[in-house]
Amino acid sequence: MVQRFPGPLLLAADSLHVVACRLDIAVPDAIKVLDVAERERAARFVFERDRRRYINAHAQLRIILGRCLERPPESLRFASTSHGKPYLAEGARKEVQFNLSHAGERALVAITVGRKVGVDIEQECQLHDLADMAHRFFAPAEIAALRALPVAEQTAAFFRCWTRKESFVKALGDGLSYPLAHFEVSLDPEPWREALRGCASDPDVSEKWRIVAIPVEPGYVAAVAAQTGDWRLKLWHADLVSLSRFFASALGCDDRTLILPATRNEEDARWTGGGRRRD
Ligand SMILES: CC(C)(COP(=O)(O)OP(=O)(O)OC[C@H]1O[C@@H](n2cnc3c(N)ncnc32)[C@H](O)[C@@H]1OP(=O)(O)O)[C@@H](O)C(=O)NCCC(=O)NCCS
Repeated sequence: MVQRFPGPLLLAADSLHVVACRLDIAVPDAIKVLDVAERERAARFVFERDRRRYINAHAQLRIILGRCLERPPESLRFASTSHGKPYLAEGARKEVQFNLSHAGERALVAITVGRKVGVDIEQECQLHDLADMAHRFFAPAEIAALRALPVAEQTAAFFRCWTRKESFVKALGDGLSYPLAHFEVSLDPEPWREALRGCASDPDVSEKWRIVAIPVEPGYVAAVAAQTGDWRLKLWHADLVSLSRFFASALGCDDRTLILPATRNEEDARWTGGGRRRD
């Protein structure tokens, strides 16, 4: 019997759900909920560890979406855009949009209704070519902000910048084919703040998109991007028992809700919640 995601998650136009999953725990019958294409892809991994992570990530994605849609996880059908972004291939459910990211033993699933969404999580590591990478992918103001930091702080700042940028290009659906240097994000270490600073080719980008850093456990960095609107970001654990330290170590509690301001000029984003909410 497949473990169901605790819920229900209420899908509403004003909510953006991000669910944190562990990939190093046993997901019962995980392989059974995958479709043929997913199983074939899983079989192609050379290393068992990568296969396990892939199976666990995609099984949990199905379980979470199935929970939201009140459907058996194995019944969900996906299709992909020309750039490879998966979406629900079911007419009536196309307004439910999602995105998956995985790194190391962690994955994030972002779910929205009626707006494009992208999420990215990375596991921090030492980068010997950090300066070269920044020059290749970052906007001039981002490179300058990175350089201005003490060397010891640059790796963390690099990953903050990277995840914010990648969440945006994943929301667009273009992935890394979108020129990352064309738009600018903040390197601010504080999560929850608006991170999108501007876009060379679109002066109104801030009216259309939001990028928000998500607090995750030490060693990981994450961000989510979505089309604007008055949405609230809600963080969840796919398994509240074994995941209790994932967000909790960063937040000091199991689950919190942030009210993002209706207009992006307001700086007073407010915390609510703090308990074990289930809505
Ligand atoms: C999307 C992309 C940025 C992912 O980067 P990553 O850091 O390695 O991976 P993440 O874990 O954050 O995300 C991977 C997940 O994002 C989703 N994804 C794949 N392509 C995507 C896209 N274009 N946009 C948004 N999400 C995408 C998938 O669910 C994928 O999971 P899977 O690989 O297990 O199936 C990168 O693969 C990319 O740029 N892809 C586009 C390639 C392209 O343009 N192809 C066109 C010819 S097919």
